[in-house]
Amino acid sequence: MDLIVEPGRALKGEIQVPGDKSISHRAIMCASLASGVSTISGFLESEDCLATLKAFQSLGINIDRNRSLIKVQGKGLYGLKKPDKSLDLGNSGTSMRLITGILAGQKFNSVLSGDESLLKRPMERITNPLNSMGYSIKAQEDGTPPLEIFNVQKVSSINYELPMASAQVKSCLMFASLFAEGESVIKENFRTRDHTERMFLKFAIPIHISELESTKLISITPPKDIKPCDINVCGDFSSASFFILAALISPNSHVLIRNVGINSTRTGFLVALREMGANITIKNPKNSFEPVADIEVKTSKLKGVTLDPKLVPNIIDELPSLFIASALAEGTTKIRGAKELRYKESDRLESMAQSLDKFGVTSKLVEDGIDIKGLDQSDLDKGPFDSGEIDSFGDHRVAMASIMGALRSKGTCKIKNCENISTSFPGFIELSNQLGLDIKKE
Ligand code: S3P
Repeated sequence: MDLIVEPGRALKGEIQVPGDKSISHRAIMCASLASGVSTISGFLESEDCLATLKAFQSLGINIDRNRSLIKVQGKGLYGLKKPDKSLDLGNSGTSMRLITGILAGQKFNSVLSGDESLLKRPMERITNPLNSMGYSIKAQEDGTPPLEIFNVQKVSSINYELPMASAQVKSCLMFASLFAEGESVIKENFRTRDHTERMFLKFAIPIHISELESTKLISITPPKDIKPCDINVCGDFSSASFFILAALISPNSHVLIRNVGINSTRTGFLVALREMGANITIKNPKNSFEPVADIEVKTSKLKGVTLDPKLVPNIIDELPSLFIASALAEGTTKIRGAKELRYKESDRLESMAQSLDKFGVTSKLVEDGIDIKGLDQSDLDKGPFDSGEIDSFGDHRVAMASIMGALRSKGTCKIKNCENISTSFPGFIELSNQLGLDIKKE
């Protein structure tokens, strides 16, 4: 699917974005392992989250779905049943990595597979620590899926320091710890998203967290059973981030995005943008098991920054948008410590450098980052990006960041291969147009 984007629009109005992707996955997983009925409201009906939902249905869990209201009849920690065939997780790395941690502990064999992009993604980061616990998971020779998961009798707990900033690896091991003997301890030296920790606490799973300076220790004791509970999923900050970007860079814009998750492990984008001079206000903050607020954004003049690499794990999915903001800022922006971007749905450093190049922006890639030269500020009113065709490489976040970049081009742009937007953001085009944009399918 190719999208045609008309430039020069202002964004005005109030919107609500769909439910948080990371929280929706985890809610289905914990609810399936609980003993009894849990409800999930505000569930994200995107392809990735539906891949998780369908996987648990294939694993014998009854799940009623009435749009974004979900009722899960959990069958207990060991209540899943062997699926008839391999589980297809589509494009979803989160589903693949977290579900592996759960299926590793079940008393049956299973196979996990996915689409062309998922079959290229690295899995040794989970298979190595899982196998060191005594689990038995086999990837392809190059460490990619499909993954074969074999039934084992006994597994020991793990004491593991995460070698990279990855919430998926952390969460996979947290789930796997539920089926091990004794207490497991997972140590992280970078603050990655903590939705699994919060979800475990919400389901009263025995977990203890201690934090000392930059180190965090998560200790998990396997429970006998998990009590069901009711979850309300907030709006996804990552989806909101595309409208934050668009409103900042489009003249005369003013938007309010309601009910968005503002968990600090996710909102490094706001920290970076404020340092760049962005006019963003947090309104009506509320604290549930996840912090939530409304975000107000007005058009802003931005200046380039050197991003603190410690912020990278908290802005990992919003870096494509930060690249676009940097290209319109005064001066050069330098980003380092972002090698993980190369292992996403596409190599996002490479994909975004190509987008920037098509827009006429000068950037320099290094192995773990990029330098982006902001455009001449005297040209800012006249476009200032070149127009043309941009490939999103089938990567939803590259697609949406490039679409927002196209708002500041001199003419109409075509953004190619956008079908995967629906993996994280169903209704993206309609919501964008509701705010005043002009995006259509070719
Ligand atoms: C996610 C973790 C991040 C993120 C992804 C969702 C999660 O991946 O990029 O979109 O829900 O745990 P990594 O753990 O690979 O950084």
